Amino acid sequence: MVEKVVEKVDVVIIGAGAAGLMCAITAGYRGRKVLVLDHANKAGKKILMSGGGRCNFTHLNSTPANYLSNNPHYCISALRRYTPQHFVEWVERHGIEYHEKTPGQLFCNESSKDILNMLLTECDWAGAEIRLQCSIDVVAQDGDGFRLQTSSGVIQCESLVIASGGLSIPTLGASPFGYKIAEQFGLKVLPTRAGLAPFTLQPEDLQRFAPLSGVSCPVSVSVNGVAFKEPMLFTHRGLSGPSMLQISSFWKPGQELTIDLLPDDDVLAELKTWRQESPNKRLETYLNAKLPKRVAQIFTEWKNWNETFQQCSNQRLQEVADALKSWKIKPNGTEGYRTAEVTLGGVDTDCLSSKTMAAKDIPNLYFIGEVVDVTGHLGGHNFQWAWASGFAAGGEV
Ligand code: FDA
Repeated sequence: MVEKVVEKVDVVIIGAGAAGLMCAITAGYRGRKVLVLDHANKAGKKILMSGGGRCNFTHLNSTPANYLSNNPHYCISALRRYTPQHFVEWVERHGIEYHEKTPGQLFCNESSKDILNMLLTECDWAGAEIRLQCSIDVVAQDGDGFRLQTSSGVIQCESLVIASGGLSIPTLGASPFGYKIAEQFGLKVLPTRAGLAPFTLQPEDLQRFAPLSGVSCPVSVSVNGVAFKEPMLFTHRGLSGPSMLQISSFWKPGQELTIDLLPDDDVLAELKTWRQESPNKRLETYLNAKLPKRVAQIFTEWKNWNETFQQCSNQRLQEVADALKSWKIKPNGTEGYRTAEVTLGGVDTDCLSSKTMAAKDIPNLYFIGEVVDVTGHLGGHNFQWAWASGFAAGGEV
């Protein structure tokens, strides 16, 4: 039986997250009748959780080089047309106070709620309706538009925007909905995996390093020719902190990470100087001076660095320097989608227009935000992609 259409709108956007809300505002101000549907009980849950509750809403120096994608050129056009400065102007117009934490990373002074409230206020001003706790059961083409069977009845629209995000953090509403819709319409979906995720360790390493849980130190970590110099945090499950989250997006299961525990130091030269100037001191004294005490202690015990400097040959000093400058560790895995900030992979950009985010072969179907195979580095780049892709589609739908 064909269900009667109960509602007609110009644009339906599925997903009231960062990308969906930006798209709704942009389309709403163009005079389009916009309806945003979300199965969650609240809009923008990830915005609220982001940046430790202060939302790292953009990165001033965001460039296409900060994104991973099978097609690294895809994001260029949208990012060029909607820049971090555009978003900052908006934030300032709404009187939201913010600060730059590490260079380029902008955070709210008060709370992530400020960003969400700004977006919801703009949705209201633009006349876009947001309907929560609404499930979408069937999506079908209807002429050049779409017909949706939802828990709030049958809805007909001219344009359909999929902004349902990736798989990370299912408790915040994540679902494979967008990938399924893409496949339903014959679009390719590239394999997905958790990105910006903490590492878990092999049992032996975990036993050794879990006592350091809560200790942070500045490191440089590398894998596959990519390196990040940022803090690392030991956790009761393994390794986290900005450096580990960043590198997790480039790491493949089974690979070793190389960690430089003293990235600003020429350790071998320093060890030789210590041998010359303080021959009676123990190696441990150097470690205590350079690393957090508990880290120094664990490494000293593990590596049996008990000698005095005068007892150390050049080869011994080289061994110590190598262990500190290129500590090799093979993670057991990552914590996966349960805690990952993003999902790598997704709707293949080859199937989409880089100017409008529209599916090339299906009229009036759009994909924006994290559901697309564009994933940013840590530091505000993922929201910048959500804003930019939402703005691009919002100008078209
Ligand atoms: P997003 O996931 O935000 O929204 C998708 C929406 O679709 C959700 O509201 C969901 O409920 C809805 N949905 C899903 N399936 C559905 C279905 N079947 N039916 C109906 N609705 C459905 N980035 C950054 O730049 N700076 C930061 O500080 C942080 N911090 C951060 C912290 C944490 C804990 C996480 C998990 C992530 C971040 N991120 C971040 C990443 C950032 O949150 C993310 O990239 C964007 O929220 C992606 O925006 P989207 O709108 O694409 O998806």
